[in-house]
Amino acid sequence: MAEVALRAQKLVHTYPRGNVTALKGVDLDIHVGDILSIVGQNGSGKTTLVRHFNGLLRPTAGSIFLMGEETAGKSVAEMSRRCGYVFQNPNHQIFCTTVREELEVAPKNFGFSPEETEEQLARVTELMGLEPLLDKHPMTLDYTTKKIITIASVLVFHPEILVLDEPTGGLDEVGRQMLTKVIRLMHQEGHTVVIISHDMDYVAENSSRVVVMAQGEIWDDAPPEKAFLSTDVLRRAQVEPPQIMQLDLALQGAGAQSAALSVADFVAKYR
Ligand SMILES: Nc1ncnc2c1ncn2[C@@H]1O[C@H](COP(=O)(O)OP(=O)(O)O)[C@@H](O)[C@H]1O
Ligand SMILES: [Mg+2]
Repeated sequence: MAEVALRAQKLVHTYPRGNVTALKGVDLDIHVGDILSIVGQNGSGKTTLVRHFNGLLRPTAGSIFLMGEETAGKSVAEMSRRCGYVFQNPNHQIFCTTVREELEVAPKNFGFSPEETEEQLARVTELMGLEPLLDKHPMTLDYTTKKIITIASVLVFHPEILVLDEPTGGLDEVGRQMLTKVIRLMHQEGHTVVIISHDMDYVAENSSRVVVMAQGEIWDDAPPEKAFLSTDVLRRAQVEPPQIMQLDLALQGAGAQSAALSVADFVAKYR
């Protein structure tokens, strides 16, 4: 079994405002090399969970272990260095006046040398085609581009774990494809990837594990080919399987044991 990258142990989080218990004792091990998606209704606790991974939120009870170490005494900076978090809304993450500065902030804060910073900036710029944008003001860019910039600003310091909160939400198709490519590449390069998503087509095609959350708890944790067949759990958690799976299941009728996860799988199966 691979090393544990992140462990939530009996994690409880209660927000003082409104006295809402958003996590009710969550246990989860994320292994090095996982590409894990967290799905669930709005308000099920997904963002609250992942914000514990870099210390933006602290447990009300229970613990978080990051690469085997208890995190109670660790700063957000220490945790973020190893676990990079991309916010759902890029407008909450961007604060510099040029794209270049935005990309340099984290490496500088984390003590990269100027040469190293330049090298990493060049790598990410090339990977994501950002060269023409470097001197632009990020807030003048469209939503998709801003989102790409915030992802680049995390990739640039090479965190071992990459956490993306709804990365494809609000993106146009070009942005979505580019992002899919980049996330796959990061995973191939050995990063552990955690993605919160409402985009079930994306989740089915791009995850090794699917964690289903509802009401501050984990209701299922399985590979996509299994998780999306647990129709009872999904219905109760109000998660809809990808349309292509639903079509395949409908065609097979009762007792289906498997279903295509993508259009490509479906075509290959029925050709
Ligand atoms: N800052 C906050 N203050 C008070 N309650 C919050 C706050 N953020 C989230 N909540 C509540 O915690 C619960 C889980 O929210 P969240 O983790 O954002 O869910 P998700 O990301 O799955 O949509 C919801 O009931 C939400 O209203
Ligand atoms: Mg959320």
